[in-house]
Amino acid sequence: MSRYAYVNGRYLPFRDAKVHIEDRGYQFADAVYEVCEVRQGRLVDERRHMARLSRSLAELRIAMPMSARTLGIVLREVVAKNRIGYGLVYLQISRGVARRDLAFPQQVSPTVVVTARSLNQTRNGALAAKGIAVVSVPDNRWGRVDIKTVGLLPNVLARQTAIDRGARDAWFVDKDGIVTEAASANAWIVTPDGKLVTRHADHAILPGITRAVTLDVIKTLGLTVEERGFQLEEAYAAREAFETSATQIVMPVVRIDGHVIGDGKPGPVATALRREFHRYAEVG
Ligand code: PDD
Repeated sequence: MSRYAYVNGRYLPFRDAKVHIEDRGYQFADAVYEVCEVRQGRLVDERRHMARLSRSLAELRIAMPMSARTLGIVLREVVAKNRIGYGLVYLQISRGVARRDLAFPQQVSPTVVVTARSLNQTRNGALAAKGIAVVSVPDNRWGRVDIKTVGLLPNVLARQTAIDRGARDAWFVDKDGIVTEAASANAWIVTPDGKLVTRHADHAILPGITRAVTLDVIKTLGLTVEERGFQLEEAYAAREAFETSATQIVMPVVRIDGHVIGDGKPGPVATALRREFHRYAEVG
């Protein structure tokens, strides 16, 4: 089946979907993005993704190119044109096209691109049933990773390091030995006394939408949560570990740097959160 993308007002077959070589997203990573889960052809947590998008754009002083309502129509159209049942929709907005110069161009309109693709639900489920291995890597990113920019080179290298070491993902560790987050997900542990811990959200992590919904689920289930940094050693000794993102929801982590977490199988807390998640996420 042919795939379609939205590029600056037009729905185009993939082979015709192009942006200019002087797009600032391409040259400077001067662009932001969002990834929404799609279930039964519907967007999960669109409202919160749009709110984070507005914030990312405002931080970079890029004007919102269209209303959230219109953007919602475009996202749905791309999902429909690509016949996505279960998958993701990707939105990228760059500052636009201009002669290469670091300073903001005077007259420029943002470049808007939307794509969508299917994910393999059975494979994701099988992965979650087994759990994944992660390795730690130094967090060498810039100081504003709370802004969801396409500047993901450290994340790219971290993920590849993980794969090269036979793991599935990487967890970033800051200069104080604190786990910040995963290469494209937020990191969590369950302590030996049953408390959930995830790093507090400031400029050093991306405030994940899945993280926010998971916090709601945790509170509703009456579990205790602490939003604070945790050291790698605390993670090695955790009862459970997992990571959250729009494309994985709650993904159990069963090995960190070769240390077996708990009994080496997905734990009851991660499993319950994964099961309950979509009762709390908004679908539209
Ligand atoms: N990544 N941290 C980082 C660095 C991320 O890139 C992501 C999401 C998250 C989780 O955010 P959310 O729960 O809103 O998906 C945390 C997306 C899925 C991606 O880059 O594909």
